[in-house]
Amino acid sequence: MQLSDKKATLSFSDGTPSVEFPIYQGTVGPDVIDIRKLYGETNMFTYDPGFMATASCESAITYIDGEKGQLLYRGYPIEQLALNCDFLDVCYLILNGELPNGDQKKEFDSLVTHHTMVHEQMQYFLRGFRRDAHPMAVLTGLVGAMSAFYHDSTDINDPHHRHVSAIRLIAKMPTLVAMAYKYSKGEPFIYPRNDLSYTGNFLRMMFATPCEDYEVNEVVERALDRIFILHADHEQNASTSTVRLCGSSGTNPFAAIAAGVGCLWGPAHGGANEACLTMLEEIQANGGLDYVGEFMEKVKDKSSGVRLMGFGHRVYKNYDPRAKLMQETCKEVLSALGLENDPLFKLAMELERIALEDEYFVERKLYPNVDFYSGIVQRAIGIPTSLFTAIFALARTVGWIAQWSEMLSDPNYKIGRPRQLYTGEVERDVPTGR
Ligand code: CMC
Repeated sequence: MQLSDKKATLSFSDGTPSVEFPIYQGTVGPDVIDIRKLYGETNMFTYDPGFMATASCESAITYIDGEKGQLLYRGYPIEQLALNCDFLDVCYLILNGELPNGDQKKEFDSLVTHHTMVHEQMQYFLRGFRRDAHPMAVLTGLVGAMSAFYHDSTDINDPHHRHVSAIRLIAKMPTLVAMAYKYSKGEPFIYPRNDLSYTGNFLRMMFATPCEDYEVNEVVERALDRIFILHADHEQNASTSTVRLCGSSGTNPFAAIAAGVGCLWGPAHGGANEACLTMLEEIQANGGLDYVGEFMEKVKDKSSGVRLMGFGHRVYKNYDPRAKLMQETCKEVLSALGLENDPLFKLAMELERIALEDEYFVERKLYPNVDFYSGIVQRAIGIPTSLFTAIFALARTVGWIAQWSEMLSDPNYKIGRPRQLYTGEVERDVPTGR
């Protein structure tokens, strides 16, 4: 970051002397006012619930311009990455800052592929869960348990350990997600196969059985790979900030990523894709297109507590660029699988059409986000709704681990410790003789 010539001055209406703060500039996007000395000089904190105006760190990984609807990984537009790269190219880029050349790509693909198997004993740990447990509950446990199974890569001060843990997490996540799925179905686990692509391997681990192999469908493989690319990183979102905060205590990477999985689960974040599909199914069950008008009235009525899931975003105040790509993929997959007349897709298109014209959504700048169409794609592929967020976690793992690693290399990194505006009781004595 670069120090700006400009400074910010904070003045007070009661005559308290004003304080000057430095301003730093990034390469693009808003500058930041460095308020680190605020408390020391004024005995005051800043108050910013939800971090609406707070940059929690410096980062060179992902850039979002919410007004433009722009998303860049390491400077490359998401649209170009989605068209020209596969998920492992994007993982390499996010981790290392540059796209791999031919040799680097071969080496990286092989490294990840050769780490896809998980410790055999992990399945006994997994078998301790109820079969009807939510996959995100299982995944939180499994990822946390990796620190017990792979404690030879938990020394955060050792760059080799950090690298190995990153590769292990990226490589083993598909295996763990597929195992969680197979367990819920009561089917045997399918081991990874090294001759398949990252995404093809995941599809096979999900859908093959010992009685019948699964032949990878290229359109489906490409679509899922795109879902992974679109979800790979999203700067300081709630789960990434959770990973950073958790990791800032010096805990091991598996524990930090498990915290991220837990955060992602919520319906305002990664759980929105599951919630969006559930919403579409409910609309369908209540009359489909005939019910859309009534449903939209409920959405606009704050007292109903109903939100249009898959719509709105804290940062995007324009079309989420990932949603455009996902809508394209959705059309491709439905057509390749002969599901062009999918009623939920039609419903989604109609909801989108109404919302884009409706004053309520227009004035609040609410546009479809990535989750609006990703659920329809996953459902068409045969992935059950309850697994959608686990797939998001699989894809976001690279972003989490890259952000964690970046934080550890940052000379300004400290344990995250927000403060508060205390509004509770002032000191008082416990009554005697109770
Ligand atoms: N449906 C109806 N109204 C909405 C919606 C929605 N989906 N989203 C926001 N609003 C309204 C909200 O009621 C508020 O109205 P008012 O100003 O009159 O009080 C205004 O828009 C601003 O909303 P907010 O909740 O203050 O905005 P936020 O930045 O805190 O929340 C959000 C962002 C994503 C949590 C929210 O838009 C939402 O709940 N969307 C639905 C869930 C969803 O799709 N989440 C996935 C996000 S993308 C995937 C990811 O990155 O995790």
